[in-house]
Amino acid sequence: MWAALPLLCAGAWLLGPLARGAPGLSVRTAERFRFKSWMVQHQKMYMAAEYQHRLQTFANNQRKINAHNSQNHTFTMGVNQFSDMTFAEFKHKYLWSEPQNCSATKSNYLRGRGPYPRFVDWRKSGHFVSPVKNQGSCGSCWTFSTTGALESAIAIKTGKMLSLAEQQLVDCAQNFNNHGCQGGLPSQAFEYIHYNKGIMGEDTYPYKGKDGKCKFQPEKAIAFVKDVVNITLNDEEAMVEAVALYNPVSFAFEVTNDFMLYRKGIYSSTSCHNTPDKVNHAVLAVGYGEENGRPYWIVKNSWGPQWGMDGYFLIERGKNMCGLAACASYPIPLV
Ligand SMILES: *[C@@H]1O[C@H](CO)[C@@H](O)[C@H](O)[C@H]1NC(C)=O
Ligand SMILES: *[C@@H]1O[C@H](CO)[C@@H](O)[C@H](O)[C@H]1NC(C)=O
Ligand SMILES: *[C@@H]1O[C@H](CO)[C@@H](O)[C@H](O)[C@H]1NC(C)=O
Repeated sequence: MWAALPLLCAGAWLLGPLARGAPGLSVRTAERFRFKSWMVQHQKMYMAAEYQHRLQTFANNQRKINAHNSQNHTFTMGVNQFSDMTFAEFKHKYLWSEPQNCSATKSNYLRGRGPYPRFVDWRKSGHFVSPVKNQGSCGSCWTFSTTGALESAIAIKTGKMLSLAEQQLVDCAQNFNNHGCQGGLPSQAFEYIHYNKGIMGEDTYPYKGKDGKCKFQPEKAIAFVKDVVNITLNDEEAMVEAVALYNPVSFAFEVTNDFMLYRKGIYSSTSCHNTPDKVNHAVLAVGYGEENGRPYWIVKNSWGPQWGMDGYFLIERGKNMCGLAACASYPIPLV
């Protein structure tokens, strides 16, 4: 039982015998102290047996951060809420267990010719982007990408900012090839909302972060989808046009181990793939720009406002980085 086992929390006795380290463990005192204050900051507790593993992982991550930041990269890494996890553990908890195959999505987006503005940021042009949310340890990123896009679409059309129910998508959207905490696609979730005739609000269908039974009540639906727009596979320029002219755009990409500890700057990776069958995380593009000639997307994530740049990240634009142009879509709301 949980209660019967010793818990290690970041209290005074933390530096007692258990914390001093097993023989052969190469954790430095400074790292031990950093870990302790990190535990306080993030209110972490561990079973005694787990503590050494977490300490060692934290120290490894810290060294990886230092090594990365001492080199000339376009983004920096930093300690965050995931710093006590290996990437394998992180992947298991927060990303889709199975990559989704985006290439099955049929496109219905017709791109114009531009030109498009150099800078777009829906966060700055009015109250069009809802606050960053936190998916917790459930592979439900796709539900947050979906609600984020629809919340923005409705705000742009009506001036009203709603907060929509991710949990409804986790619990109810299975018939549209979605799998709750095991993954799904925003385009398929928009389809679900369209055919289901609506989605409830966060207040009437609160987020639990785990799979549950569908509790949709039609009379409580507050947001509706008239149409779903799927952007052509790998047409990143069409994403630019859609973000510039219409709406923030949901997209998926492949998260690899250098992304977990992202802190700020323009993320760019050589370890990820750019094919539609490898994507494992869905997010929301709310704008784009460029810095020193390097184009980027401004992206809303769902790992809470403490992660990255206040919950956001920048990712290199124009190269289909990590497959980000593999399955982009956005909803047209029924208002
Ligand atoms: C760092 O990278 C930038 C952009 O790639 C380059 O312009 C700059 O010269 C590099 N600086 C060093 C010290 O290598
Ligand atoms: C993905 O779907 C496409 C189109 O349906 C198919 O041709 C391809 O083989 C699939 N790839 C994988 C890895 O399942
Ligand atoms: C958009 O994509 C979804 C799922 O990927 C699909 O079900 C839907 O039919 C597509 N819409 C159009 C208009 O092709």
